[in-house]
Amino acid sequence: MPSERSDALVFFGATGDLAYKKIFPSLQAMTRHGELDMPVIGVAKAGWTVDQLRERARASLTEHGGVDAAAFAKLSARLKYVDGDYQDPATYQKLKEQLNGAKRPLHYLAIPPSLFETVAEGLAQASCTEAARVVVEKPFGRDLASAQELNRILHTYFPESAIFRIDHYLGKEPVLNLVYFRFANPILEPIWNRHYLDCVQITMAESFGVQGRGKFYEEAGAIRDVVQNHMLQLVASIAMEPPAARDAESFRDEKFKVLRTIEALSPESIVRGQFRGYRDEAGVAKDSTVETFAACRFCVHNWRWAGVPFYVRVGKCLPVTSTEVRVVLKKYPQTMLGKSETSWANYLRFRLNPEVVLALSTRVKVPGEQMVGEEVELFAQHQSPDDREPYERLLGDALDGDQTLFTREDAVEAAWRIVDPVLGNSTPLHIYEPNTWGPPDADQALIDGHGPWFNPAAVEPKHC
Ligand code: BG6
Repeated sequence: MPSERSDALVFFGATGDLAYKKIFPSLQAMTRHGELDMPVIGVAKAGWTVDQLRERARASLTEHGGVDAAAFAKLSARLKYVDGDYQDPATYQKLKEQLNGAKRPLHYLAIPPSLFETVAEGLAQASCTEAARVVVEKPFGRDLASAQELNRILHTYFPESAIFRIDHYLGKEPVLNLVYFRFANPILEPIWNRHYLDCVQITMAESFGVQGRGKFYEEAGAIRDVVQNHMLQLVASIAMEPPAARDAESFRDEKFKVLRTIEALSPESIVRGQFRGYRDEAGVAKDSTVETFAACRFCVHNWRWAGVPFYVRVGKCLPVTSTEVRVVLKKYPQTMLGKSETSWANYLRFRLNPEVVLALSTRVKVPGEQMVGEEVELFAQHQSPDDREPYERLLGDALDGDQTLFTREDAVEAAWRIVDPVLGNSTPLHIYEPNTWGPPDADQALIDGHGPWFNPAAVEPKHC
């Protein structure tokens, strides 16, 4: 597998939703930053011409971030289109012609996983897989067995070093900052373990429902949609050991090592919920038992983390849209101080969206006669309009052959092993009211002894 940059970008599913929402905006941004100096070939079966694809790209950009006239003109000029059935060998012959001798194409499969095999085989038969790379989207399988099967299929046509499994969370600037902050600040290392930490809490709250994606969601549910991938990747980013070297495999080795030590979920370590009204969504069964909320307790069984639970809570129709990580320190006896002080613990807070915030909670004395204090957060906020969108970063990395931010086969399978026992309808489902923090009692019971849950604020309070 050469490590040279790819010399053509092919995206299957060019007329689809993912291309519309994510790929075209990333392609324009890459063009603007001078990072897309190659032919870009869309493939789909829509009976379209390349001009129609250009119009689709323009519409996508108008809706997602705006058209940059200069960058769009360049992108349009590079855009090609192959119309054809994925089952038909002629489609791949047409693609080969459009590739025009490109030696290291990157094939992005923005299509349902059920089509991966057909497309990979078609590419191979047309000799379009040699020295090529392939990008695949989540969901990567729907359980451990199907993920293993998908890996088997892809490995028939591509070596692991050519496979790029996208989890867009890994391309987010604040998630990268979480990893960076941890390893760039030696002050953290002495406390980043079971001796000093009480628990880690991660909340991924979304104030909206399934946004017209009822049909997709019925097949997924919160565990498959975001816990198996985004959330477990966050857990691994927080819990991993420092990589031995800067290369992609050293980084991915450490992530995998964490995932393999996490105990598989059991009915006692998860609470599933569904917001009232979900069953009225288009594409959703009237008696659906699919969860739109999950609260889980992950136990990482290694020397650093034994006894420090990782609580993860995700949900649709919660009161706010925000993702926050809190690393909570142990409480210490403070006999000279009052009761409120002793029941209080320091924490580090990483707010990943909508704003990027890093805060350390402390207690300081309130001026006056009494030895009483108040909580004050030491606070840093990062805002940069130039932050690259995850898809732009990840597509650029895939073109460069850099796998650091892509999920390796073993890690994908390890993550499925963790959630496999609680997929489907194997645990009770609790109905919760929209605009609440999920099923209250069951949820609280899960976190008992390490609680309460910290609820992210809708808007980051003004700090001075
Ligand atoms: C996607 C899920 O992977 O991630 C969605 O399918 C979820 O259900 C989304 O809303 C959240 O990602 P982001 O980047 O919009 O916070």
